[in-house]
Amino acid sequence: MNEKEIVNLEEKLMANVYAKRPIVITRGKGALVWDVNGKEYIDCTGSYGVCIVGHSHPKVVEAVRRQAETLISCHASFYNDARSELLQKITQMAPKGLNKVFLANSGAEAVECAIKLARKFSGKPEIIATMGAFHGKTMGALSATWDRKYREPFKPLVPEFKHVPPDNLEKVREAITKKTAAILVEPIRGEGGIRVPPKRFLPGLREICDETGVLLIFDEVQTGFGRTGKIFACEHWNVVPDILCLAKSVAGGLPLGITISEENIMSSLKVGEHTTTFGGNPLVCAAACAAIDVLVEEKLPERAATLGRYFKKKLELLQTRHRIVREVRGLGLMIGMELRFDVLNIILKCMDRGVLVLDAGRNVLRFLPPLVIERGHIDRVIDALDTVMGEEKK
Ligand SMILES: Cc1ncc(COP(=O)(O)O)c(C=O)c1O
Repeated sequence: MNEKEIVNLEEKLMANVYAKRPIVITRGKGALVWDVNGKEYIDCTGSYGVCIVGHSHPKVVEAVRRQAETLISCHASFYNDARSELLQKITQMAPKGLNKVFLANSGAEAVECAIKLARKFSGKPEIIATMGAFHGKTMGALSATWDRKYREPFKPLVPEFKHVPPDNLEKVREAITKKTAAILVEPIRGEGGIRVPPKRFLPGLREICDETGVLLIFDEVQTGFGRTGKIFACEHWNVVPDILCLAKSVAGGLPLGITISEENIMSSLKVGEHTTTFGGNPLVCAAACAAIDVLVEEKLPERAATLGRYFKKKLELLQTRHRIVREVRGLGLMIGMELRFDVLNIILKCMDRGVLVLDAGRNVLRFLPPLVIERGHIDRVIDALDTVMGEEKK
């Protein structure tokens, strides 16, 4: 199929719910992808933060190949070697005390499980989330997501969700009632514009939750697995949640959602109360085991910290050269650059110059590259941005 045929088929046959970029990507390796015409791009989208270990990492490819030849499918009502290995690896690396795992297929599903778990464990219905939060688009996760454009068309949503202003401990205190089961937050808001909270916020939340008996849920779907320079972003503040949600990057590019909690919390879910057919399938578990090995062996969190500092500094230099840049912020290789206007044009022009970048809201450029990205790639990204921003001024 040629480029035009591929585009036409997707346009004609696929639900029109994604804001499409006009290129056809057919190959990827590390931090690079290629389109159907062989043009190379530096991928600072990382498939929306999925490709932590890079595209088609050889160890993930080999693990998937081996597992596919052995056993692809095995429902979690049977035991399986790849699954048990993954459970062991995850619980060994998870923050202290989080030792019981539910396996699903996406970020939204990881959050759904956390919501149901909080309600079941506490016997209370209310979930507090923050304004600007993004937790996914299934009905439960959507009820915690803030943006009106995602919520309005689907009302009524799940009842007993409320939103408080971000980074405001007083407002959280005021919002807690006798009905509150949990507070759900992203340690760093991703879709909400790459917002790192003030130093005291997450430790303060932990204290409030300890005082009130409300559960603390961290959604690390975007921040987890090394992205911010630590394996989990919550480590930056030494705060351990009661329930942790992971997805995106955890299986080297394959779909996996993970919800982890202490055993006494997770055990409130009884047999049959929350299951999913593909949850814990051997193929994805084998890929995740390989991705975790790569993360550790290649010291990717440390790499994210070092290269993130380099990338951020270069972006800050751009800020001094281009008045259209309002702020650069982020941690590790989760970086946002806020402009004084809509970023779409910049994104499209960067694409022409072989650089793929995400947005995070209307006026923030978001960089979530694979952690295997190299300095040379970052330099090329900066050059492209410099040129494109220079053109924007004319
Ligand atoms: C913090 C956060 N939570 C949840 C989700 C939803 O994940 P998924 O798209 O896999 O359902 C996302 C996706 O971007 C996210 O960034």
